[in-house]
Amino acid sequence: MCGIIGYVGTKSAKDELLEGLKMLEYRGYDSAGVCCFEKGDFRVIKKKGKVDALIEVCQGQLKDTHCGIGHTRWATHGDPSDKNAHPFLSENNSVAIVHNGIIENFEALKGGLQKQGVRFRSDTDSEVIAQLLQKSKCESELKKVQELSNLLVGSYAIAILFRGLENQIFAIRKNSPLIVGKAKDGYYLASDVNALVDKTDEYHIMEENEIIWIDSHDCYAFDKNLQAVEINYHKMDLSKQDISRGAFEHYMLKEIMQVPNAIKQTIKECDAPHNPYMRIPREILKDLKHITIIGCGTAFNAAMTASHYARERDIIVDCAYASEYRYQKYLNIENEVCIFVSQSGETADTIEALKIAKEHNIPTIVVTNVASSTLNKLADYIIPTKAGPEIAVASTKAYSAQITALYGLMDYIYCIKHKLNCRSCILKDKLADVVDKLQNFNFTKINKLAEILKDSERVFFIGRGVDYATSQEASLKLKEISNIHSESLFAGELKHGTLALIDEQTTVVVIATQKHLFDKTMNSIYEIKARGARVVLVTQFKADSDAIDMIVELPCTDQAIMAEIAIYPMQMLAYKTAVLKGLDPDKPRNLAKSVTVE
Ligand code: F6R
Repeated sequence: MCGIIGYVGTKSAKDELLEGLKMLEYRGYDSAGVCCFEKGDFRVIKKKGKVDALIEVCQGQLKDTHCGIGHTRWATHGDPSDKNAHPFLSENNSVAIVHNGIIENFEALKGGLQKQGVRFRSDTDSEVIAQLLQKSKCESELKKVQELSNLLVGSYAIAILFRGLENQIFAIRKNSPLIVGKAKDGYYLASDVNALVDKTDEYHIMEENEIIWIDSHDCYAFDKNLQAVEINYHKMDLSKQDISRGAFEHYMLKEIMQVPNAIKQTIKECDAPHNPYMRIPREILKDLKHITIIGCGTAFNAAMTASHYARERDIIVDCAYASEYRYQKYLNIENEVCIFVSQSGETADTIEALKIAKEHNIPTIVVTNVASSTLNKLADYIIPTKAGPEIAVASTKAYSAQITALYGLMDYIYCIKHKLNCRSCILKDKLADVVDKLQNFNFTKINKLAEILKDSERVFFIGRGVDYATSQEASLKLKEISNIHSESLFAGELKHGTLALIDEQTTVVVIATQKHLFDKTMNSIYEIKARGARVVLVTQFKADSDAIDMIVELPCTDQAIMAEIAIYPMQMLAYKTAVLKGLDPDKPRNLAKSVTVE
């Protein structure tokens, strides 16, 4: 959450910072601000609201600036307001900072500073950083930054300006990403590579506890003991087209339309002669007894979908929310592997869960969409999803790519356990069929359904087996984008309580893609209809009953991977409903992409 940008060089710092903030806006958008050196002093402009509000107030301002830092916020401590927007200056205006993360010991630090007479101007945890730096007695700025990292508890990516050190930026990070971009005209700092596309050819992913010191000509890196360390630059492999909205009205729409390609590219990766599965040692997989797949939100739903696929192959899989896994009792299970699923690779709970698995010497595999991510750095083995950059807050194409990669992994494990040849992706042809069918999907019914749902107060999604996992994801998507109260349930569980909420005002979307469960699911439909609710059936099977108000027909493919098809119209349903309600699907209320705080 929150996006950080920094620039020092020959271009206009104001322009570079504002452009960068626009690219980082999906990380948080309740307030934004910049601080630049202007005639040797700090000039701060910040504003509640989206980045456009900041751009508006910056017009005609900050004309001759070449160094500065900026921030777009997702509030944790203190409400979204001008006062709580970053950057923050220290009390005597000698230090300016922007921060992403949470300072867990800020109350103790703030109390100590207040006792020394320091007055605070915001309700945030972050302001304490600027005040601590001002109070530091260390002889050099570098030492002040080092001392700061010893005082702070929590997660942080911080960019710092010191008055008197014009055109220099300091940065530090722990459990929160920060990247340095090297350009012909200067250097950038950013929370992720998306903000650096078309700006730099090379970027460096800051290591944990690394301290960076940049000016317009050079970048120096130090470890926590202030020993100089080498900087590893990676080539920028994203283009402007990858991260722009193009002709689409919203990123979410663009990304839904890219679902078929995300699946296709992920299969290609998994089918390559030296595919990523093959890097996992056979010794680990051949006697494997238990797998735990861990993730948050949509990534967890992908895990759940894959667990059904694995079960059909007699592989024992448990799924855990990362936020729960972190704190649950550790069971010493022999021959276990943990798989972590994450689009961003930066989700704080998932990172912490992985660290716990590592502490217990459990081999860790990550399925992520961002090569430069923290999870990739930490994991033993990496299975990349090839969805391309996902900008909309709601995950769509990454979800479909995650399922694809996990199906492939389960097949690979199955083959190793059964001593079968596993050089190529078993599902290759079946998934190619899915890609084909999704490319030709007819959304006419979805448009009609969105018209109905836009005025609904309550929607339920139900299913059995793997269809329950799809229901979970469909429900999450609808609620986060359209703000309609939505819940998902196992179809067989309705009668154990939730039927009490079913009435004429309710719409129930029933997902039924599994032949052997179809008749049982129909029973649930009769129970629902008897209470007067509207019933929408999503299926590839023929169904003819007065109890059904609408059928969303799915193209047919192998039942084992029908989840790839069933979720597609549900993603579009969430999108269309939000748009009909006049909401911005790319920036849902109270949410942000990349949840880098606990
Ligand atoms: C929902 C959504 C979130 C994320 C979750 C995990 O559309 O996007 O539920 O899936 O925050 O994020 P990653 O996958 O980046 O770990």
